[in-house]
Amino acid sequence: MGLPIQIAPSILSADFRCIEKEVQAVQNAGADRIHCDVMDGNFVPDLTFGPMVIEAVKKCVSIPLDVHLMISEPHKHVKQYCESGADILVIHAEECKNMPHVIENIKKCGIKAGITVNPDVSLQLIFPYLDMVDQVLIMTVYAGSAGQKFIPQMLDRIKTVSDEIKNRNLRIDLEVDGGINNQTAAQCIKNGANVLVAGSYIFNESNYKVQIEKLRNATVDHD
Ligand code: DX5
Ligand code: ZN
Repeated sequence: MGLPIQIAPSILSADFRCIEKEVQAVQNAGADRIHCDVMDGNFVPDLTFGPMVIEAVKKCVSIPLDVHLMISEPHKHVKQYCESGADILVIHAEECKNMPHVIENIKKCGIKAGITVNPDVSLQLIFPYLDMVDQVLIMTVYAGSAGQKFIPQMLDRIKTVSDEIKNRNLRIDLEVDGGINNQTAAQCIKNGANVLVAGSYIFNESNYKVQIEKLRNATVDHD
């Protein structure tokens, strides 16, 4: 039996004038996690927010915070993010030195560790650590901004990682992030993904509950 489908709204597309209201609204609408995109203006050109905002969001909701670190030298900042209230910390392997040590540090803080790479980076950077992590994130756009178009070639990657997870008898989450709507969600689920991050698809519409349900039922509606 596969892992349950989880929906993770990305607050990158939320209205930050009222972030408390926004995260509580998606929680009430059935979201399973809140996805927080940390960008440093260096690893990616945009700049978003850091641990202070994560700490504030943590106080507003009871569902887990899924923190996606798009920052240079993430290994130097892990402790700070663990302490800020992240429940899952996702690290870009192409930017991280001494990955096994970093994964161990995350786990020592009592939270879950996730690993990812950009679409043009080899999965070989991820495979050695599959047995150590709680989650793999497949980027379905290049890390950096909301509202990009889903890259269909990433479906093969999802399948490859999903097969590898099964071959090793692991039970870890397989998350997708970027350009997710009800149609791309259905394709991702079909190829083995179980956690769907969505920013614009949820926050750019008025009824969050409807959008979340469309994602959760994507296989039924569009397979
Ligand atoms: C992209 C971020 C995503 C982004 C997704 O760099 O990692 O989490 O918020 O936005 P949408 O769902 O609009 O593609
Ligand atoms: Zn993200």
